[in-house]
Amino acid sequence: MSKLSIMAYTFGALLFLVSFSMSIFYGYKVVAHDLPVEKKTQAKFHYHFVLVPEELDNEYWRLVEKGAKEAAKENGVMLEYTGPKQANIDDHLKTIEMSAASKVDGIITQGLSDEQFTPLINRVEAGGIPVITIDTDASNSNRRAYIGTDNYLSGYLAGKALITDTKGQANVAIITGSFYANHQQQRVKGFRDAVKVEKGIHIVDVEESEISRVRAAEKTYQILQAHPEVNAFFGTSALDDIGIAQVVEQYKKQDRIYIIGFDTLPETLEYIRKGTIKATVVQEPYEMGYGAVKMMIDLIKGKSVPPIIHTNTRIMRLEDLPLDKHGGVEESQ
Ligand code: BGC
Repeated sequence: MSKLSIMAYTFGALLFLVSFSMSIFYGYKVVAHDLPVEKKTQAKFHYHFVLVPEELDNEYWRLVEKGAKEAAKENGVMLEYTGPKQANIDDHLKTIEMSAASKVDGIITQGLSDEQFTPLINRVEAGGIPVITIDTDASNSNRRAYIGTDNYLSGYLAGKALITDTKGQANVAIITGSFYANHQQQRVKGFRDAVKVEKGIHIVDVEESEISRVRAAEKTYQILQAHPEVNAFFGTSALDDIGIAQVVEQYKKQDRIYIIGFDTLPETLEYIRKGTIKATVVQEPYEMGYGAVKMMIDLIKGKSVPPIIHTNTRIMRLEDLPLDKHGGVEESQ
């Protein structure tokens, strides 16, 4: 081989190496890094669902989100959790509307009131997007299915528990999340029906907290001023009993006042442990979220889905809390 051809050969080989490594480098860059974000996510998910809660940072709704995210992860679903920062009907409705406009594959939300939610749910369904109600049903709407507590029954159970615990003698004040929301109305109705046969039980006042613990505390204070005969409270949404308990402790009335609330948030369990809250209605928010995503997938796949799935509801008292290894009542998760 002549010197010239060796040089030409070496140059050619070098050129090949450089262009080969550049093509690998840039090829890799295009595939792994330059792909638009949506394409990368689209490739990973089969469906895109939206879960719209009543209040984004509410601990109860965070549990619903946790269950929904778990089912989404297991089934290749992109789950968006979005809605009002603080309970607000207009924001809630707007979020549902925007989700429908962006053509998601399914919407999971509450059916808070018939006047506002039913027409919107019907419009979304008519546009071809399935809606599942969760926690609160809009049973007169065209929603495909409901998953959540039987809200009437849960209020009824609370009423029966109060009768047992107070031996049928109590002047009761109710603090409810909202006068207008379906589930809150049903809980109050169930409670009223349970206690109406008891001559010694009187419902003295019903006030609204707008699902805010601060408002629940304010209302408790006002009730105690206006009705000193009140010796029992029923809080019908997750933060109501916490607000009630704060005020009752502040005025050192925990020995005289019976409290029954809703849900098993860590603070509620803490008040049960201390004896300030005597009982609570257990709901299953994690299971609601998990089940709703599974139901939505089944619906889209054309499988039959029961129109109503009631998650478990029961009463919890101090003696029902699990014991820790030292024999005390276990810390909540
Ligand atoms: C209800 C939810 C509500 C929450 C408010 C729960 O008991 O089921 O609908 O948003 O309380 O804290």
